[in-house]
Amino acid sequence: MSALASVEERVSRLTKAAARRLVEPDEEVPGAPGEGQLLPDELLSVAGLGLELTPDQRAKLAREEVASITAAGIRFEAVLEAGFGVQLATAEDLTDPRLTFILHELGEETRHQRLFQRLLGQLAPTARSPIPTRVVRLAYRLAIELTASSPALFYVLVLAGEEIPDLIQKLASEHRETDPFIRAVNRYHRMEEARHLSFARAVFPEVLSSSRRLERLLVRHVAPRLISVMFDDLVHPGVYASVGLPAFSTWRRANATSTRRQLRYDATRPVLRVLVDAGAVRPGRVPGPWRRLCGVRSDESPLETAPPPA
Ligand SMILES: [Fe+2]
Ligand SMILES: [Fe+2]
Repeated sequence: MSALASVEERVSRLTKAAARRLVEPDEEVPGAPGEGQLLPDELLSVAGLGLELTPDQRAKLAREEVASITAAGIRFEAVLEAGFGVQLATAEDLTDPRLTFILHELGEETRHQRLFQRLLGQLAPTARSPIPTRVVRLAYRLAIELTASSPALFYVLVLAGEEIPDLIQKLASEHRETDPFIRAVNRYHRMEEARHLSFARAVFPEVLSSSRRLERLLVRHVAPRLISVMFDDLVHPGVYASVGLPAFSTWRRANATSTRRQLRYDATRPVLRVLVDAGAVRPGRVPGPWRRLCGVRSDESPLETAPPPA
């Protein structure tokens, strides 16, 4: 089977699986988060910082962290929808089976966003990000512009935007002390995202093969930096200020703990693997920004996680 036929075959299988079961989150994931601490201590971003927090502070922090990640999820999925919208609007062949799957994926993402929106309203977060709104808006607009004109970069960010939440949601949904409703939301989301990940992995090699030199440079040197920012911003600095901690210094320290870095490494190494397999990164020649993002050497071998800088 040619590479093209095998991609189309895989995509058609994913489309069939998506069509088989449409999940309406208002019916299948009803309910609301409880009043207690929504995430266990070890899954909080500050785990490993040795902070002395009261039970009330931990409960508030957990709620605000979940809210921050949920809000980021809605925005990331909107960037994905924008990118897919551009692909559809500019497609030469509107009957391409890839577009059929993309239409399923768009439907699923808007359902996820409705669930996340409901959850966000129920969480009623009070933390405000100290990063000015105009800066955030500009960053999202730039991300949309850049990915609209660079499909290879778009798919790398899609892969990271799916792998990172997938691991975070796996840890939350498998932990007995996570709030039952948060576990249910995470389980439902992971189930559908698994197909999205398979789709992005299936089409990336062909997207890369038709990419320009500049796009490949973006994939090698800009994508890992954007992914790093994406990861660090999942829990925004204002979350820490909401429990009386210094916003930016806690944020920086939390993102530098060995636990947090290991989480980033574990979530992003599968993305690097796809890049190496597709030939975007040559084996043994992993560029510096990817090495730092994934905690690997130039031959992709993992670094031991060092203790956080003092
Ligand atoms: Fe989603
Ligand atoms: Fe997705």
